[in-house]
Amino acid sequence: MVNYPIHIGETALPQLAHHLQVSSYSRIIVLVDEQTLAHCYPLLQPHLPEHTLIQITSGEAYKNLETCSYIWQEMTTLALDRKAVMLNLGGGVIGDMGGFVAATYKRGISFIQIPTTLLSQVDASVGGKLGIDFQGLKNHIGMYKEPEGVFIVPEFLKSLPYEELRSGFAEVIKHHLIADRTNWQALKELTVLAPAHMQALIQHSVAVKSKIVESDPQEQGLRKALNYGHTIGHAVETHFLNAGHPILHGEAVALGMIAESYLSYERGFLSKTELEEIESYLRKMYPHVNVASSSYEAICALALQDKKNLDGRIMCTLLEGIGRVKVNQEIKGEDIISALTYYGRTVLSS
Ligand SMILES: NC(=O)c1ccc[n+]([C@@H]2O[C@H](COP(=O)([O-])OP(=O)(O)OC[C@H]3O[C@@H](n4cnc5c(N)ncnc54)[C@H](O)[C@@H]3O)[C@@H](O)[C@H]2O)c1
Ligand SMILES: [Zn+2]
Repeated sequence: MVNYPIHIGETALPQLAHHLQVSSYSRIIVLVDEQTLAHCYPLLQPHLPEHTLIQITSGEAYKNLETCSYIWQEMTTLALDRKAVMLNLGGGVIGDMGGFVAATYKRGISFIQIPTTLLSQVDASVGGKLGIDFQGLKNHIGMYKEPEGVFIVPEFLKSLPYEELRSGFAEVIKHHLIADRTNWQALKELTVLAPAHMQALIQHSVAVKSKIVESDPQEQGLRKALNYGHTIGHAVETHFLNAGHPILHGEAVALGMIAESYLSYERGFLSKTELEEIESYLRKMYPHVNVASSSYEAICALALQDKKNLDGRIMCTLLEGIGRVKVNQEIKGEDIISALTYYGRTVLSS
């Protein structure tokens, strides 16, 4: 497993309190946005010794250099030294950006992730990727650095809007499809999501992700397994964002998982039954994304810009049966178009 403690469930906050007590941090800073201040901080606060809040505005639009400048400025005004610690209380935006700010302030202070969305609990808080968006490019500036610890409290999910919960759940589905055929059978029976169901699934996802990350921390090969559903999904997500009609990450990834499962089937890696099983569950869980055929070319162009490509070739992770992957599979624009056509067409005919 990874080199830092990950605590999940009721004991997480007492464990955090213990960690803060036995560590010799000079100051404790808690980074929040207005949502996590209102909904999550009240649960955290009783477990903290003396600390100072830094508040930013929520949303991906603020995951940028200006917000970093503001946080660095606040840290400087507080005269934080290198033994201070930053507690990132929020979703993936706070975790990625708070980690980045901490890792660069005075060449790096400690930080702790306290993820509050399902996406950040099952994905963003594990794996050490930090960063911000820059000039419209997602996570363009950043680094790998591990936190002192990750403390996951499923109770935070109670205040999360259902769409956000379902969006994060796409990564839970992904973790089953890439690594766990056995538990997939049970997962696909789960059609109504509730925070109460999540603890065991978070544990499962964190175990799958940390095992993969540990085997390949800098994404040389195996870590690309985690990219399943994301080559086409991410291009579609960016396309809708650019068009001014953003869709949630998990909704795009659900589409991407159908599209990339179709390509896996086309190449003979996945059986028809498996494709249908995956597709039927994802269609049941997620709203259909209407992708106009006139946008297909633009989506292919976006897929070409993916950070995971090699030498200008689009590299995709395909399934080799449920529970196994084939990384570095080259796909062409025409494959993306046929997968998007498949995604659009099956709904029309059903
Ligand atoms: N580092 C990684 O490996 C990694 C992996 C996946 C995604 N990410 C990043 O994560 C980000 C997306 O994360 P996200 O989906 O958590 O989005 P987010 O951080 O924007 O949070 C979504 C919204 O929910 C609010 N919120 C957070 N917790 C809440 C709670 N408990 N109750 C009510 N509202 C709450 C937030 O204020 C925000 O408005 C993206 O920037 C993405 O790049 C990083
Ligand atoms: Zn994702």
